Amino acid sequence: MTKNQTKQSVCVDLGARSYPIQIGTQLLESAGEALAPILTRPNVVIVTDENVAKAQLTRLATGLERSNIEFETVVLPAGEATKNFAQLEFLTRRLIDHGVERGDTIIAFGGGVIGDLTGFAAAILRRGCRFAQIPTTLLAQVDSSVGGKTAINVPEGKNLIGAFHQPVMVIADIDALDSLPAREMRAGYAEVVKYGAINDEPFFAWLEENAGALLQGNADARAYAVKKSCEAKAAIVAADEREAGERALLNLGHTFGHAFEAAYGYSSDLLHGEAVALGMALAFDYSARKGMCPAADAERLKTHLRAASLPADIADLPADPKIDAAELAALMMQDKKVVGGKLTLILADAIGASRIVKDADLADIETFLKEKIAAARRS
Ligand code: GLY
Repeated sequence: MTKNQTKQSVCVDLGARSYPIQIGTQLLESAGEALAPILTRPNVVIVTDENVAKAQLTRLATGLERSNIEFETVVLPAGEATKNFAQLEFLTRRLIDHGVERGDTIIAFGGGVIGDLTGFAAAILRRGCRFAQIPTTLLAQVDSSVGGKTAINVPEGKNLIGAFHQPVMVIADIDALDSLPAREMRAGYAEVVKYGAINDEPFFAWLEENAGALLQGNADARAYAVKKSCEAKAAIVAADEREAGERALLNLGHTFGHAFEAAYGYSSDLLHGEAVALGMALAFDYSARKGMCPAADAERLKTHLRAASLPADIADLPADPKIDAAELAALMMQDKKVVGGKLTLILADAIGASRIVKDADLADIETFLKEKIAAARRS
């Protein structure tokens, strides 16, 4: 342990493929110590983006050098648009150039984009290499680095090309969040709210009390929220790794959200977490409209999202993407949960009581979106 280090651990229990999630402070400085026992040789390739390289790479480099681990670095452009075929080709060929062998470990050092792209590259390079996640954004620490979903986007939809490929370790250093732009922090916060909304009303109530401290930099509040989120996700992934059932709950807000992200061309006008916030609000509003959920619960969720400066209605979006309801409904049908042409949606009976609804009525959802878009344009 380095001076002032804190460390807690959560296990993702997947039998022989189980792995730890380390959560704490000053963890980059000791990353070499954590990784050394699981490396087949003391060489790794770090995959990161330009922003993370500037803000955090020196810390990780120090941590690896302390344990005599040699490394090469591949730096990619920051932003969701990097999760594409061209960057996948570039990355996999750089990894081959750097001599990565099947037993080697590739380090995904960054946010969800770097984790998803690097994880997918690791899944297909030499038919499968090992990789470790060192997430540096709140979104990646509480969601995308855990559970083994890896993917790239195509114009037809988000994360449509990918694989389940579990990391060998996750190291979530809370200090890395200090250099995160406030907007990225808020976007990641949407995924924290999601765990409360899915099945943990007391955690949602805790967030209502503590979101301010968490967003403003309180390390204890951040560590608590990251640990609670990772515990919730680890339990669901351990029970349903490949999303045959309850893992789909983690998609609350994502089917609506992914459609808006695609409509915005995966641009920085709408970050993934912002789309998830809007998507959760729409899922709750739609649940209330169907008489499943009290309108007061939908309002409570939206009030909390807005308090965190997240979009809770189409009117809250930064710019009108000039989309219509039919286009959004068509994008929703690209969802990976579509079975036999029928849409599965995560809806809610209350805050803390979400559920999987199979065979959702697409025409009804399109009407709902049409009314929402019309209301947003009037406001
Ligand atoms: N982000 C949703 C999941 O990992 O299942």
